[in-house]
Amino acid sequence: MLRKSLLMALATAALAGLPAPGLAQETVKVGLILPMTGPFTSTGKQIAAAARLYMQEHGATVAGKKIELVLKDDTGNAELTKRLAQELVVSEKVRFLAGFGLTPLALAVAPLATEAKVPQIVMAAGTSIITERSPFVVRTSFTVPQSAVVIADWAVKSNVKKVVTLVSDYAPGHDAEKSFKERFTAAGGQIAAELRVPLQNPDFAPFLQRAADAKPDALYVFVPSGAGAIVMKQFLERGLDKSGIRLIGTGDLTDDDILPGFGDAALGIITAHLYATAHPSPKNKAYVAAFSKANPGMRPNFMSVGGYDGMHLIYEALKKTGGKTDGEALVAAMKGLAWESPRGPIAIDPQTRDIVQNIYIRKVERVNGELHNVEFATFEAVKDPVKAAKK
Ligand code: PHB
Repeated sequence: MLRKSLLMALATAALAGLPAPGLAQETVKVGLILPMTGPFTSTGKQIAAAARLYMQEHGATVAGKKIELVLKDDTGNAELTKRLAQELVVSEKVRFLAGFGLTPLALAVAPLATEAKVPQIVMAAGTSIITERSPFVVRTSFTVPQSAVVIADWAVKSNVKKVVTLVSDYAPGHDAEKSFKERFTAAGGQIAAELRVPLQNPDFAPFLQRAADAKPDALYVFVPSGAGAIVMKQFLERGLDKSGIRLIGTGDLTDDDILPGFGDAALGIITAHLYATAHPSPKNKAYVAAFSKANPGMRPNFMSVGGYDGMHLIYEALKKTGGKTDGEALVAAMKGLAWESPRGPIAIDPQTRDIVQNIYIRKVERVNGELHNVEFATFEAVKDPVKAAKK
């Protein structure tokens, strides 16, 4: 009798599309905190779109748990990021904190991740130090120095002898400046000037004038995703392209999200980075097609893969723990995971919890009428050079 009524209840629930009584599927919430408005909206939109795409492709259930994304807009403000993270942990009981579009936003949450023992998946921010601020931080984006040392090596090999560096004046910019300088000068290169531009409302014009006056072979630039367009515009307005100064940088400068708007002046710019929309693997071709179909008018940039791979990390960790959401067990499960991303092969370094990935050298070219970063050389399995040097 008891058996029969249970079966009936199960059948009714199944017909109604509801979880069966007593077998109710537990929901695991992922707090996704991103700048969805303000100057860094493009980062937020790219990551949110990629995280949703991953869930569409892989289903919302993993290891018997239903995954629910709880998206919050931090507008790029660190105080707000911290408050949202607290609310998500305390009220929503999220089992993962994810996102973090800028370094100060990731740093603001690290102490909370430690205290609450909740894994903090950094999907965007790129300063080396972030993973050292909490044993619960695991990164699927990049470190800025990974790209900075590779473009420095390229410059040395390409007969670039004198460089002016121009970076956004905050932590990842300082990383970009230091890593490039150390690598470039160790090989005999000369830094003629080191210029730092404010992060908020930057006016590059006076800095570009100083760069031009120093007459370098190349101007090396780091600006965060989305800010490259202003640098390019002012570089051209000053006629620096005509004075024979090459523009080089980390790939944040020629961000695929905004590159189509640069015009022909961008042709030939050389950068080093972890991902290009034009990366020629079958996995990436499928990713770009699915992303563009789900988000008409958008093409995926390097921020998007941090979101996509961050969701993969969460899914795989839950599979390994058999659906258990203990924070320490989840981080342990993440260490050493390796898989093929749309960007190429990647892994989580078990010692540092930071990402190990290929860095590609790319040149801006027209492909089927559109501007793209076309990869022409690969540095394989690059670890964060800053942490590697500390050992
Ligand atoms: C950062 O704030 O760490 C950051 C943001 C955007 C980038 C790179 C680094 O493109």
